[in-house]
Amino acid sequence: MENKKNSLVYSKKYVSLTRDKLIQIIQSQMSRERFQHVLGVEQVAVQLAEKFGVSTEAASIAALTHDYAKERSDKEMQELIFSEKLNLEWLDYGSNIWHGPLGAVLVERELGISNPDILNAIRHHTIGAEKMTLLEQVIYVADYIEPGRNFPGVERARVLAAENLQEAVRYETKRILQHLIEQNRKIYPKTIATYNKWVANS
Ligand SMILES: [Fe+2]
Ligand SMILES: [Fe+2]
Repeated sequence: MENKKNSLVYSKKYVSLTRDKLIQIIQSQMSRERFQHVLGVEQVAVQLAEKFGVSTEAASIAALTHDYAKERSDKEMQELIFSEKLNLEWLDYGSNIWHGPLGAVLVERELGISNPDILNAIRHHTIGAEKMTLLEQVIYVADYIEPGRNFPGVERARVLAAENLQEAVRYETKRILQHLIEQNRKIYPKTIATYNKWVANS
């Protein structure tokens, strides 16, 4: 696959780090497997950003940072929820739900990224949101279809994403909810709110 991401030079508009330095920090935060996933998300996010008229720089930064908190310990994250007086409901759902919103907190605090669109893309990358900007949609979809993903339906999601970003968001939202239900998993209410807004007939 053509790889345009390496030509990305950050303007310092969103982060004071170079892309190489940001990548180095991200790599230090996670396993090799997750780091590969993050690079895959960046590759797809930059492609989608180009296609749908979103800043490729913002897409690159949001993609590289989207799982920043994923491998922090539960204890550290639980303490952060208490100390920052964040949503106590997250405690009932664990890392899958809290790594997005807490990632946004840590990315702002530790990497100095304050752009609200980037922070919302990190915040909403797992559960979506009723309203998502194009950048948020790009990251939500790229996380689902990056080249390392391999599950029934991912090809369909890739085809949709190449044509229509909103259709890809709809498809992904429905499939995620179906998957959670099939596995008898607890559904975080905002996942249903995302489904109601993007998928359900009004
Ligand atoms: Fe994630
Ligand atoms: Fe991810």
